[in-house]
Amino acid sequence: MSEQPLFKVTIDNITIEVPAGTTILQAARKIGGEVAPPAMCYYSKLQGSGGKCRTCLVEVSKGSEKDPRPMPKLVASCRTTVMDGMEVKNITSPKVQDARAGVVEFLLLNHPLDCPICDQAGECHLQDLSYEHGKEGTRFEFQKRTFHKVDLGDKIQLHMTRCILCYRCVFTADQLTKEREHGVLDRGDHAQIATFIQKNLQNDFIGNVIDVCPVGALTDKTFRFKNRVWFTKPVDAHRNCSNPDCCGEVQLWMRGDEVFRVTARKDEWGEIKEASNGKTGWICNECRFEKKDVKDWVIEGPTKVNRHSVISQGHYVGVTKPNETFSAVMKGRDPKLLMDIHSVSEVNKPNIELSLLDRPAHSTDFNQS
Ligand code: SF4
Ligand code: FES
Repeated sequence: MSEQPLFKVTIDNITIEVPAGTTILQAARKIGGEVAPPAMCYYSKLQGSGGKCRTCLVEVSKGSEKDPRPMPKLVASCRTTVMDGMEVKNITSPKVQDARAGVVEFLLLNHPLDCPICDQAGECHLQDLSYEHGKEGTRFEFQKRTFHKVDLGDKIQLHMTRCILCYRCVFTADQLTKEREHGVLDRGDHAQIATFIQKNLQNDFIGNVIDVCPVGALTDKTFRFKNRVWFTKPVDAHRNCSNPDCCGEVQLWMRGDEVFRVTARKDEWGEIKEASNGKTGWICNECRFEKKDVKDWVIEGPTKVNRHSVISQGHYVGVTKPNETFSAVMKGRDPKLLMDIHSVSEVNKPNIELSLLDRPAHSTDFNQS
């Protein structure tokens, strides 16, 4: 087998060697940190992804050793492969920063600014991108396009108004499930994600579309409006899943002892992380939607969160429990439970665990006072 030749590429003045055929984005991710351009549509685990959103634009100031001419336009780094001797500018290029601000402005033309009530807030790639590259105002004076919310099956909700048409969910359904029942219908300003003749998405692995969606367009109905993500603590856990294609390694999003949400594990780029057993890391619907009891899982420990957004505040690695001072103050006596809330309040029904409801809590779940 012939060895892949190594190409030298310099990105933001940092030189590395990568095998021929590597894209600029992958090379930049090897360097890591700020040098890696943001990517809203590319997803390394999904074939054919990328080339839709233009957030990963970079400037190629030197084409290659053989042909040092710069590329005339900014290029999509997720779709452009490196050449030997290529020089690329990302954060060092004012042109790129300006173009990226323009792309964010375009992405936000029709995207609602409803972060305060959106379930994806805190882990939304578009929210992060807007903070980093967005402008404070918009020049768009027309009404944004809006859609009604649609239930795709009983566990996933599509809020098309927030969709940025990255196609990731379409590739996920195409490549992970036995039958794809949704896609992008219509063209241009009318383009939308829709199910074919209102079919439900019932496949075993369709829940993964929630994890790949960079914005809050596809959300988990068993978690929607139950908690803000930064109030939950992410914990790595696994179970022996009987589905041979499921890796069984997940992240539990807990509050107290209750599991509010189950997702696949993500890497620092927000993509599905490879499982320890060599599988790709996708999880089945049973693990995601049906296993909301701590007893279903073997807990490994707190998740190390690498993402730069607010969810990185929710990791508990290295945290030491403060010393208990109560009994020292009480001269060795243990505190007594002075009051059981249920004996004085009729409002919370003690037999209801809000995390186990597969919908947000309604007023009827509480006693009316
Ligand atoms: S619903 Fe989400 S994953 Fe699907 S195309 Fe829209 S933004 Fe992308
Ligand atoms: S990530 Fe490259 S075009 Fe979207």
